[in-house]
Amino acid sequence: MQSTAIYPGSFDPITNGHVSIIKRALRIFDKVIVAVSENDAKGPLFSLDERVAMINQLGLDRVDVIPFKGLLVDLCVEKDVSVMIRGLRAVSDFEYELQLALANRRMNRDVETIFLMTDYKYSFLSSSMIKDMARFSGSIDGLVPEHVKIALQERFK
Ligand code: PNS
Repeated sequence: MQSTAIYPGSFDPITNGHVSIIKRALRIFDKVIVAVSENDAKGPLFSLDERVAMINQLGLDRVDVIPFKGLLVDLCVEKDVSVMIRGLRAVSDFEYELQLALANRRMNRDVETIFLMTDYKYSFLSSSMIKDMARFSGSIDGLVPEHVKIALQERFK
């Protein structure tokens, strides 16, 4: 049987830190479903379709990219997946991630959260920081895939 994990997030936009997590997850699981959250409350820079397309453009084998609304645990049941991946950068991530993992466990005890560490090169990186850097023409070379860099430059032109 194929082992599959769901890697959820807003991915607004995807960074090389996220890509590093996907590649690590692919060393453990046969297939990774990258679930892109609508997350309208956060007022995303890129639409849901744009965020999904940017991840698809990476052309990663054994990766499915899907948009989702609603609860993560419901998505896990719908996809028959019992493992969720989250990336951890620094201790500062831990509190929110613990809260998320415990809330999800409270709703569905059959879903486990596994934390993977981002490559140390990207441990300071977040989508919000990338957007700030791009907005004010700071260099984002090597921090996001090339097509994401172009999309950000276009958006802030
Ligand atoms: O990349 P992010 O912004 O940290 O990801 C946030 C995400 C997608 C994990 C979060 O928005 C989310 O879980 N959304 C779905 C609603 C849900 O299931 N919440 C968890 C328990 S209340």
